[in-house]
Amino acid sequence: MFIGSGYVGLTSSILMSYLGHKVVCVDNDQKKIDTLNNGILPIYEPKLDEYLQHAIERQKIKFTTNYDLVNFQDIQAIFITVSTPQQASGEADLSNVYDVIGKICNLISQDCLLVIKSTVPPTSCSKMIKYLKEKGYNIDIAVNPEFLREGSAVEDFLNPDRIVIGINDQESEKILKKVYLPITSKGVQILSTDLVTAELIKYASNGFLATKIVFINEMADLCEKINANIKDLSHGVGLDQRIGQKFLNAGPGFGGSCFPKDTLALDALVQNYQLNSHLLKAVIKSNEMRPFAMVNKIEAILSNDLRDKNITILGLTYKAGTDDIRCSPAIEIIKILLSKGSNIKAFDPAGMSNASEYLSNERLLFTDLATNSLMLFKDTDAIVITTGWPEFIELDWSMILNLVRVPVIVDLRNILNPEKIRAIGFQYYSIGS
Ligand code: UGA
Repeated sequence: MFIGSGYVGLTSSILMSYLGHKVVCVDNDQKKIDTLNNGILPIYEPKLDEYLQHAIERQKIKFTTNYDLVNFQDIQAIFITVSTPQQASGEADLSNVYDVIGKICNLISQDCLLVIKSTVPPTSCSKMIKYLKEKGYNIDIAVNPEFLREGSAVEDFLNPDRIVIGINDQESEKILKKVYLPITSKGVQILSTDLVTAELIKYASNGFLATKIVFINEMADLCEKINANIKDLSHGVGLDQRIGQKFLNAGPGFGGSCFPKDTLALDALVQNYQLNSHLLKAVIKSNEMRPFAMVNKIEAILSNDLRDKNITILGLTYKAGTDDIRCSPAIEIIKILLSKGSNIKAFDPAGMSNASEYLSNERLLFTDLATNSLMLFKDTDAIVITTGWPEFIELDWSMILNLVRVPVIVDLRNILNPEKIRAIGFQYYSIGS
């Protein structure tokens, strides 16, 4: 059983049923549950809709808002996948997790294992066990952090680099190893640790990846000053197997619902223990300043004057392959440009509806590329690529050249080929070269 049907909950529940398990997925959002029962995914995640259809057709999955409709005696493991949002202090807010535990503790059988898949700060699970004991319940809790990325969630879930489980006893380990057998039998490693270490592995992984991105972004700034090339630099550094090629793409900063929140929570945790630690604060600060640095770059290209400039923004989501705009650098960049008096036309292949619900301004126009490319590029003073959607590479740039007022492209994701785009007639600026 899964409780919470966000990105992680939906992907894992649907794919668990694909692996052969019978799954019930509970969420308190009736609209979402109705959509799912009609075979429609409420999120954009490539390929996941096919797996949803498959699960529904084979009657391997049920979606409900009502715990009374669940036969708890049949359930061996309950995965809690509700959100753990950020509080003002930076710490994670666990009230959703406690809400769920409070609701189900008197419904579940003694043999049922409670698995925390939501990202929870280290020591949370042992506190939950204590809380349950104090209420008179002797329920086992395990932790099973998820490492899937939005946009490649299906592939990441079915072929992970590793599966991490934090357990208190052998019985919990046995249950989780059985659940994941279809994946581990293909050679994927399952790592069992104690609860607190598994909790920390999740934060440390996200913290390290976020640090890697900030490091390469700062190297890109240095490259621009000394005429070095960031793509070659990333490649050359990444060829060292101790470093690796992945997560060395310079850009407008990291966003999404995980890295910004988890780096803050990890820093808050470190500070709680009064450790002499400075790295995470610097990572957070550097990333928060990144959209401002990107706007300064655009401003310098446009003769240090952004007032009344027409800017076309390509990309609203925090990365390609998702409709998620949470903590998206693109959104931050738009807000700063608007505050400096620019007029914005913006397009994204998947994030338009989320962005237009979140952001409105009389100088901001969301414009569909397919139906209105003329409008999107006409009289533009600069085209800024803020999200690395592959479809932007394939645009008819020669046609676009004829529409714009000034042929400037600022590619904050380094996705275009500089030689080709300059040959067409654009002034092309990228990150770190
Ligand atoms: C991240 C982790 O990669 C997952 O392992 C983890 O499960 C997930 O958070 C989570 O905690 O739930 P996600 O936020 O979906 O996944 O996206 P990523 O692909 O990691 O990208 C995060 C941000 O970093 C994006 O804004 C992306 O554009 C940026 N990024 C990534 C770069 O700027 N450069 C890179 O080289 C890689």
